[in-house]
Amino acid sequence: MSVHQEIRKVTTHRLTEMKSRGEKIAMLTAYDYSLARLVDEAGVDVILVGDSASNVMAGNETTLPITLDQMIYHGASVVRAVKRALVVVDLPFGTYQGNSRAALNSAIRIMKETAADAVKLEGGKEVIKSVKRILTAGIPVMGHLGLMPQSINKYGTYAVRAKDEEEAEKLIEDALLLQEAGCFSVVLEKIPASLGKAVAEKLSIPVIGIGAGGNVDGQVLVLHDMLGITQQFSPRFLRRYASLADTVHEAVGKYADDVRAGNFPSEKESY
Ligand code: KIV
Repeated sequence: MSVHQEIRKVTTHRLTEMKSRGEKIAMLTAYDYSLARLVDEAGVDVILVGDSASNVMAGNETTLPITLDQMIYHGASVVRAVKRALVVVDLPFGTYQGNSRAALNSAIRIMKETAADAVKLEGGKEVIKSVKRILTAGIPVMGHLGLMPQSINKYGTYAVRAKDEEEAEKLIEDALLLQEAGCFSVVLEKIPASLGKAVAEKLSIPVIGIGAGGNVDGQVLVLHDMLGITQQFSPRFLRRYASLADTVHEAVGKYADDVRAGNFPSEKESY
């Protein structure tokens, strides 16, 4: 037997098995080669190349401006780094709504030009034709319900969604529609924990939460938020596992001091 253990790539099928065994799924975002490599080596199951790249990588206020070409650039960078995790790439705003043929073309470009494993899109009934058409090409689709940042101009706020019965019922119907259409998983963002639990119990596909409580099948966070690189954003659901902003400030400050004082480079660091 080889000394090196074969790395078993995570598949959509394996995520379904994890749900049926009651094993929780760990998912994080990544947008570039170097951090994706670390995230994969650390053992998360799913890496999402989220359109949150628009916020954390490009500094936009919303996810709306990011383009398909930009998502493909981020997706391909992440895929080059990842050996184990399932890689999912977000379809950006304007590339799948209202026209299922355009949706299929967008998803095909992502799969061809990034070699990712799946795509994710936001919405239920309104985008179900697009979901079905993408699935006809054999492209796995992850849904996204609850707070859908691409619809921020409709909501006018990033507050918790589906607190009233009508919106909660629509969310459950949409989740069932996405499952029936053939989605392999659904993300639920910023909704009451009781609703997250109800949806996870109703669906046989894995439900991944971000601000949807602990009784769903897995969790996702934006990498830059949980590493403490972004500092302004502090929603209740976010747990920071590191304070990288402090680490970077300290290291860069020391470097600048050394350069200014003539302490860097030393003789040993010179040729
Ligand atoms: O774009 C993103 O990072 C996401 C997650 C918040 C689920 O969609």
